[in-house]
Amino acid sequence: MSPMSQATNQSWGGRFSEPTDAFVARFTASVNFDQRLARQDIQGSIAHATMLARVGVLTEEERDAIINGLTDIQGEIERGEFNWSVPLEDVHMNIEARLTDKIGITGKKLHTGRSRNDQVATDIRLFMRDEIDVIEAELTRLRDGMIELAEREADTIMPGFTHLQTAQPVTFGHHLLAWQEMLARDHERLLDCRKRVNVMPLGSAALAGTTYPIDRHVTAELLGFDRPAENSLDAVSDRDFAIEFTSFASILLMHLSRMSEELVLWTSAQFNFIDLPDRFCTGSSIMPQKKNPDVPELVRGKTGRVYGHLMALLTLMKSQPLAYNKDNQEDKEPLFDAVDTVRDCLKAFADMVPAIEPKKESMYEAARRGFSTATDLADYLVRKGVAFRDAHEIVGLSVAYGLKTKKDLSEMTLEELQQFSDIIEQDVFEVLTLEGSVAARNHIGGTAPDQVRAAANRAREALAALKGAS
Ligand code: ARG
Repeated sequence: MSPMSQATNQSWGGRFSEPTDAFVARFTASVNFDQRLARQDIQGSIAHATMLARVGVLTEEERDAIINGLTDIQGEIERGEFNWSVPLEDVHMNIEARLTDKIGITGKKLHTGRSRNDQVATDIRLFMRDEIDVIEAELTRLRDGMIELAEREADTIMPGFTHLQTAQPVTFGHHLLAWQEMLARDHERLLDCRKRVNVMPLGSAALAGTTYPIDRHVTAELLGFDRPAENSLDAVSDRDFAIEFTSFASILLMHLSRMSEELVLWTSAQFNFIDLPDRFCTGSSIMPQKKNPDVPELVRGKTGRVYGHLMALLTLMKSQPLAYNKDNQEDKEPLFDAVDTVRDCLKAFADMVPAIEPKKESMYEAARRGFSTATDLADYLVRKGVAFRDAHEIVGLSVAYGLKTKKDLSEMTLEELQQFSDIIEQDVFEVLTLEGSVAARNHIGGTAPDQVRAAANRAREALAALKGAS
């Protein structure tokens, strides 16, 4: 031990002549947040030691001492007995120092042929891989529940909207499958991101590689990585995968916020389309009648913080010269928070969506009230030879009459309708009903109940195929 190492950091204090300023030590330390990577740090170290022994840099005894020591430390951390030290800066040096405490000088050999730069990049990728798998399971659960509800509600009629004005009748199942399509794309983006996460920086050492005869294929295989990263300079400094994950997360949360917004609208007395079970809602401390849709509101609100993390990470990486820079330590907090937020929001939705209780009569009434079959009447006239623009005009006049007399198109008598066109006959009522309107949109991607059932089946198959692929 060098004489200075009492006063300066033990791991790198050799060339320093005065101790680190107390504030600077706190300012530069990351242990308060990167201790979350402890499990992956130990996992990476065990693989590194195993590889070093295989290529003859460590003896088998040294390797075993290191692995046993690290395994004990893992237990200490899990039991909450580990003493995290801010002067030891980060998770890596905390664990290494404890290992040396426990097994003596052999502990100091663990860091042979690596650097904290490739170590931390490896730890975050292992962490992200674990989290992506948990997030994927929640996303799958949500999609499953949504497809099932869509199938159950394939015949349930509601108004479809453009500009939030009643447009044409759709089925509730069709609406739910629209949500499901958004999530299907998110799911693909997540799995695509995982491919680029699962590449191993370890062995890049500080930036240029190492002089020891390491075998990176061995470590990659032990850690379940697809391959070692190609270029050491890139591998220690690349954080694209963090940006890709937060991009995925931002788009997913954008989708969840759209769904949330609709759930909030639909639970209002003004829409009255659905009920959410009490367990997903809270009351008001002052207004006894209130039942607030807090869960979707909060998901809608949390979207903003995830967008913020994406912006933070993009800006963090902007203009960074190769290779590792201390800036990169700032990747962890946004990434951790994005992971936690996505997990929680997906869990909330996966629990809540199957519990949505549609108020079918109320949805039906709303679709009936808004002249939602006006396009169907126009299409009917066109089928009888009227030009579309003329048909549009005829229907416009019928709607104006309906507004004045407070009657929907389907509630008018044949004589009333014939005031606007004598081409209209008794068979018009088949297209003016809501059931007739949705059933007529009977092609792939359309809202007809049979199409919704077929689409639900295809969605289920696509989900199963994706699960099989990952
Ligand atoms: N705590 C650091 C981080 O999170 C670990 C790598 C530090 N490397 C270094 N040379 N200072 O990025």
